[in-house]
Amino acid sequence: IYVNFYLFQKAVQLKFTNVVCVSFNKSLWEIHSCNIKAVNRYKNTFNLNSTMHLPIYTERVKAQFFKRANGYKPWLYNFQIDGCKFLSRPYNPIFLSIYKQFKNFSNFMDMRCPLLGPAIISGFYLRSELLQLPVPTGDYLLYIAWHFNKKLSAHTNISFQFIEDL
Ligand SMILES: *[C@@H]1O[C@H](CO)[C@@H](O)[C@H](O)[C@H]1NC(C)=O
Ligand SMILES: *[C@@H]1O[C@H](CO)[C@@H](O)[C@H](O)[C@H]1NC(C)=O
Ligand SMILES: *[C@@H]1O[C@H](CO)[C@@H](O)[C@H](O)[C@H]1NC(C)=O
Ligand SMILES: *[C@@H]1O[C@H](CO)[C@@H](O)[C@H](O)[C@H]1NC(C)=O
Repeated sequence: IYVNFYLFQKAVQLKFTNVVCVSFNKSLWEIHSCNIKAVNRYKNTFNLNSTMHLPIYTERVKAQFFKRANGYKPWLYNFQIDGCKFLSRPYNPIFLSIYKQFKNFSNFMDMRCPLLGPAIISGFYLRSELLQLPVPTGDYLLYIAWHFNKKLSAHTNISFQFIEDL
């Protein structure tokens, strides 16, 4: 396990393959853009430009990882956090490891509930050295369902590819 873990940490390729952001209530949360930009063959970035038009409390954020094998199949981690509690004091270790990946590329770290105004992620690229868990080669999808003001209000599907350096 130790040896494998070491190999996993040396992944050469960890990049986005697709991103989908859907808001069910645009008067609450408007998405101006949600896309991937290529940097080079091995690296690309995820960019999100959005605006929260009304004060938002996000007490329920549900996430599920999927791994591709004849379609996406649920993979290991499935969890739910209170987004407002998390922003004031990060507590879920899995969500924290996701958050650590992107927080320096976003304005989220300064946000507290109620959320209002721009929510931006800019130039975010994945870094395998920040993975705290062993991840086998494959195609993954992180699905997140966002509840805003107690209503399911948005979906984000972030797909990424992980290829070990062997
Ligand atoms: C959108 O959210 C606002 C604020 O929470 C709410 O008043 C409105 O009814 C929602 N609209 C829809 C279509 O759900
Ligand atoms: C986000 O989109 C809005 C509306 O299109 C635009 O005015 C603003 O400059 C964009 N912000 C960034 C950081 O790209
Ligand atoms: C985020 O930025 C801070 C300050 O520049 C830096 O100390 C920290 O290591 C960065 N974190 C990550 C995960 O890159
Ligand atoms: C996101 O992924 C889930 C799980 O594969 C799927 O059920 C859902 O339709 C996807 N949503 C969008 C907006 O792509």
